[in-house]
Amino acid sequence: MVIPEQKIEEIRAAANIYDFISPHIALRKRGRNYIGLCPFHNEKTPSFTVSEEKQIFHCFGCHAGGNVYRFIMDYQKISFIEAVQDVAKQVGISVEVTQTEQTEGPSEQEMLYDVNTIAARYFLENLLNAPEGETARKYFENRKIKLSTIRTFGLGYALPAWEAFINFARDKNIELNKAVQLGLIGKTNEGRLYDKFSGRIIFPIFSSTGRVIAFGGRILENRENTAKYLNSPESVVYTKGRVLYGLSHAKDDIRKLNKAILVEGYMDLISLHQAGVKNVVAVSGTALTEEQVQLLSRYTKNVVLLFDADAAGMKAAMRSIELLLQRDMEIKIASLPSGEDPDSYVNTYGKQAFEKIIDRAQNFLEYQTDYFQKQGLFNEPSTTADAIRELMKPVALIQDELKRSLLIKTIAKKFNLREMLLEDELRKTLAGHQREDQIEAKRRKNVESKVLAEILPADKQIPQHIFNLEVELIKLLFEGSEKVVELIVHHINDEMLLSEANAAIFNEVAEAYNADADLTAGALIGRIKDEKIQQYISNITLEKYSISKMWEELHPDEVRGNILEKYTKDVLCKYKHAHLDENAKEFYLEMENAQNDDDKIIIMKRLRELNREKQLISDELL
Ligand code: UTP
Ligand code: MN
Repeated sequence: MVIPEQKIEEIRAAANIYDFISPHIALRKRGRNYIGLCPFHNEKTPSFTVSEEKQIFHCFGCHAGGNVYRFIMDYQKISFIEAVQDVAKQVGISVEVTQTEQTEGPSEQEMLYDVNTIAARYFLENLLNAPEGETARKYFENRKIKLSTIRTFGLGYALPAWEAFINFARDKNIELNKAVQLGLIGKTNEGRLYDKFSGRIIFPIFSSTGRVIAFGGRILENRENTAKYLNSPESVVYTKGRVLYGLSHAKDDIRKLNKAILVEGYMDLISLHQAGVKNVVAVSGTALTEEQVQLLSRYTKNVVLLFDADAAGMKAAMRSIELLLQRDMEIKIASLPSGEDPDSYVNTYGKQAFEKIIDRAQNFLEYQTDYFQKQGLFNEPSTTADAIRELMKPVALIQDELKRSLLIKTIAKKFNLREMLLEDELRKTLAGHQREDQIEAKRRKNVESKVLAEILPADKQIPQHIFNLEVELIKLLFEGSEKVVELIVHHINDEMLLSEANAAIFNEVAEAYNADADLTAGALIGRIKDEKIQQYISNITLEKYSISKMWEELHPDEVRGNILEKYTKDVLCKYKHAHLDENAKEFYLEMENAQNDDDKIIIMKRLRELNREKQLISDELL
C-alpha cells in the first residue's frame, strides 16, 4: 500500500507527538522540552527528550530519535505504513485503502496473531473434549480450577504426541514456519519438526488488549531435568518484558479499585481471579522490567507486591521496588506465611483471609526495616549503620521531597531510630546520585561524538572549526523559523558543505523551503528516510548545551526570533569567512613558493580580493 507523501505529512501535522508518547512514558517538563526514561534502552537517569515545539524526540543515551512516526514504529515494532495508519486513526484522518492493499491480504503480524488464536482454540478444545485430555481435566480439578475459569483464561492442553499440533496445523493450512517462529513447533538439528508444548497444560498469554501473543506451558507432574514451565520465545508479536500476565483480565478492576496486586505465577493470578480478587497481574518468571512498570502505571499508581517472605523473595522485591519508586508508584509489600503462595493460600483460607493479608501490607520502608530488625541488625551500632545505609538507598529514589521526609519520620518513630541519622545517610546517598548523573553526562558526551563520527566520517581535510560551524548551520535549519531557513538557503549551497550528510540534509530542507512546505523539525525530519541521519538531526536539534542557547542567555532582553536571526547571520558570516580563510592559507603557501615578483603580485591581488569579499559578507550579514 502506498500513501502519498502529502497525506503522510498532513497526518503528522495533525498529531501532537507529546500525545503519542506521554501515554507510554512518564514525561516531565524540563525547560522547553519534556524528559523521561527512555523506552529503548535501560537507564536510571532520564535521557529521553521530547520537544512539542519541534515535534521530535531524541534519546541522548541510545540515540533513538525522529518524529512521531519513528517513535511509533520503534515502540510498537511496526512498519512505517502501519505507524502512519495508527496515527491517522487517532487524529481522525482516513487513509484511503487502495485496491492493491485489499489483494495484499493481512500483514505478517496479523497472520501471526491468527496462528496463535487458532492454536489457543485447539488447546482449549483438547482440554475440554479430547479423550487424551482426561489427565489434564483431572489436573485442573485437583487444583480446584472451575470450567468457567478455564474458559475465561482460555486454558488448554497440548496432547502428549510429537506431531498432534503439527497435523492439526497442516489440516488448517497454517504455514508451519509461522508456527515455528511463534515457538509452537520446534525444529531438531536434523530439521525434523515436533510439537513444542507436547503434554503440557497451556496458559495463553494475552496482550493488554486481549490478543493471544504467546503461551506458557506447564508439565503435569513435576519432574527433575524438565523445566516446569516452558514459555514462547520472543517474536514479532511478543516482547517478554513488555507484557504483564493477566492484565487484559485485570485492567478494569485495577482502575476501579485504583490498586494492583503483583504476584509471581500464572496459577496465582488465576486462582485469585476465580476467588474474586481480580485486580491482579503476574510478572511470571522474569524480573519486573521498567516497561512493565510503565504499562501498569497507566492503570494505577498503587501496587501491592506479594512475594515470598524469604531472602531471595526479599531481594527480588527490592529490585522491583527500585523500578517502581522511580516511576513514582506507591508501593506496599504483603507477605504470606512461609510455604504458601497466593494460589495455595487463597484455595486453603479463602478470599477474606487473603484480603486481610493485602490490607496488612506495609509500605516498603516499613517492611524492610521490620525485616532488618527481625534479623537483629539494630542491636549493634556497626550493623545499624549498614542497615540504615541500605534503607536509604530506595528512599533516595523518591522524587517528592515531602514524601521522603514523611517516610523517614514514620520509620524513625516506629523503630526508635534517630531521624537525624536517617537524614544524614539520605543526604549522602543523594549526593552520590548527583555524582552519577555527572558521570553519566560525561559518558553521554563521548557516545555522542562517536555517533557524530559515524554519521559524519571524520575527514582530516575538514578543519574542526569549519566543521563545527557547518553542524551549527544544519542545527539552525531545524529551529522551525522560516526566516532562518531563508537566510541559510540564500547564503549557502550544498557544494559549500564539506560533509555529505550535511549536504543531503541541506538539500532536503531547501527543497521543502522552495515548495513552501511545513518547516517544523518533525516535518523536515520525515523527509529524510535514513534512520541514522534522523538520529543525528534529532540529536543536534535537541542538544542541551547548544551555542544558540548560549546566545539567548547572553541576550536576555531580545525576542527569541530576533536572536535566532542575528545568531544565524553571525554563524553564516563566520562560516563563509572560514572558507575564505582556508583559500587565503593556500595563497600564502603559494606566495612562499612563488619564483618571481610578477607571480607574487598576482597572488597579493587575489588575497586583497579575498579580503574585500570577506568585508562584503560582513557588511551584508552583520
Ligand atoms: P513457580 O515455580 O512459583 O510456579 O513459578 P507456580 O506459578 O506456583 O506454578 P504452580 O503452582 O507450581 O503450578 C512462578 C512463575 O515463574 C515462571 C512461571 O511464570 C511461574 O508461574 N516459571 C517458573 C517459568 O517461567 N519457568 C519455570 O521453569 C518455572
Ligand atoms: Mn504455585
